[in-house]
Amino acid sequence: MTSRQSIADALQRDASDPLAHFVDEFHLPKHRDGAPLTYLCGHSLGLQPKSAARWIEEELDSWAAGGVLAHHDARRPWIPYHRLLSEPLAALAGAGPGEVVAMNSLTVNLHLMLTSFFRPHGSRNRILIEASAFGSDRYAIVSQLALHGLNPHEHLIEIAPRPGERHLRTEDIIARIESESARLALVLLPGVQYLSGQFFQLRPIIAAARHAGALAGIDLAHAIGNTVLELHDWNADFAVWCSYKYLNAGPGATGGCFVHARHARSFDLPRLAGWWGHDAGTRFEMGPDFHPMPGAEGWQLSNPPIFSTAPLLASLELFERAGIARLRTKSIALTAYLESLLAVRLPQAIEIITPARADERGCQLSLRLLRTPSESKRIFAQLTAAGLVGDWREPDIIRLAPVPLYNTHADCFRAVEMLAGALDA
Ligand SMILES: Cc1ncc(COP(=O)(O)O)c(C=O)c1O
Repeated sequence: MTSRQSIADALQRDASDPLAHFVDEFHLPKHRDGAPLTYLCGHSLGLQPKSAARWIEEELDSWAAGGVLAHHDARRPWIPYHRLLSEPLAALAGAGPGEVVAMNSLTVNLHLMLTSFFRPHGSRNRILIEASAFGSDRYAIVSQLALHGLNPHEHLIEIAPRPGERHLRTEDIIARIESESARLALVLLPGVQYLSGQFFQLRPIIAAARHAGALAGIDLAHAIGNTVLELHDWNADFAVWCSYKYLNAGPGATGGCFVHARHARSFDLPRLAGWWGHDAGTRFEMGPDFHPMPGAEGWQLSNPPIFSTAPLLASLELFERAGIARLRTKSIALTAYLESLLAVRLPQAIEIITPARADERGCQLSLRLLRTPSESKRIFAQLTAAGLVGDWREPDIIRLAPVPLYNTHADCFRAVEMLAGALDA
C-alpha cells in the first residue's frame, strides 16, 4: 500500500470535495447491529433522500385534509403533479420542453414506445439490440415482434463484442447498422450497459441508425442521473428509464420517458391510449374519441401515482442543487480513485471489465475475481457479510458503483480493504 492509499488520504480527498455534504441528505444503511454498511449499490437501488418522507407526508396530509379536492386544491395539485418533474427530468435527459414525462415503470414505457415506434413494413422489419441486453428489454422486444407476427430468429439482430473482448466497439455497432440498413426498423441500446458498465457512444450510433432509415431508442436505466445526456441533440427517437437507481426515488418508483420533439405531433402514430394522455383541456368531458396531447405527455395512460412520484421530486431537488455536470466531474474522479485502489492493492486478483476511458463508463465498475465462479460467489457472500453492499450478476460479475451524491473516497477505500481481506491479499 502506498501513502496515497490510506484511509487518511481518502478522508483528505473527502474533505476537499465540494459535494461531500450531500451525503448528509441521505439515510445510510446499517448492519442489524447498527454498524455502517459500505454501500456501493446505487446502480441497483439508490439510497433514500432524508427529505423523501417529508414529500410523501405532505401528500398524505393533502389527502387527509382535502380528499378528492386535493386533485385541484392541494399545495401541489395532483392532476398536473407529473408536470412538476418535467423540467428537472429534462435537465438530466438533455431534453427540450415537452419531450419528457414521468410515468409508469421502465418496461411498461418500453412497450408503449415500441408500440408506436417499431413499425415494421415490407422488409424493413428488424430490431438491433446488444447480445447481453437486460432480460426485461429482450422479453419486451420479442413479445412486440410476436405481436407483428415476427420472430426473434429472423427479425432480432443481437450484436456481441468481438471474440475475447468485453465491450462493443462503436465502429462495429455502426458497421452492423450499415450492413443491415435495408432491413432495420429500430435500434434499441442501453445508455450504460447494466453488466459491463459500458457507456455507449450514443451520438454517432443514433446518427448511424437514422442515416440507415431506422429509429433509435435508448434504455437509460443505468445512465440517467449517472452520466450527462443530450437526448435531444443526439436525436434519439425515444428513451425510457426507471427512477430507483441513480435517481434515488425508491423501489418501483415512477419511471420516465423521452419522445423527441419531431414526434410531438405525430398523432397518426398508433399508440396505446389512456385518459391521461388525452388533451388535458377536454379530458374530463369524457368524449368517445381520444385526442392525444402533443409531446411525451400524449403517451400517458393513467393518473400519476402520487406516493411513488413524491420521492422522485425529493431526489430531483438534490440533483438541481448539486448539478449533473458537477456530479459527473466528481463521479469520474471517484470511480478513477476506486479503480486505482483496486489496481495497486489487488493487481493479480481481479479483472475490471468496465471500459477504462471515463467517457465510456458511468460510475459503476464491474469486476471479475480471478477465481472459479463458485469461489467468487462464496467470496462475494463473505463481502456482503462483512458489510460491503455491491451486487453479484451471473455468471461471475461483481458490480460496485461509487455514487457521487452520497459515496465518499473513504467508502471506496473501505470497499477495497474488504475485498483484499476476503481475497486474503
Ligand atoms: C437495463 C434495465 N432495463 C430494464 C429494467 C427493468 O425495469 P422495470 O422493472 O422498472 O421495468 C432494469 C431494471 O433493473 C434494467 O436494469
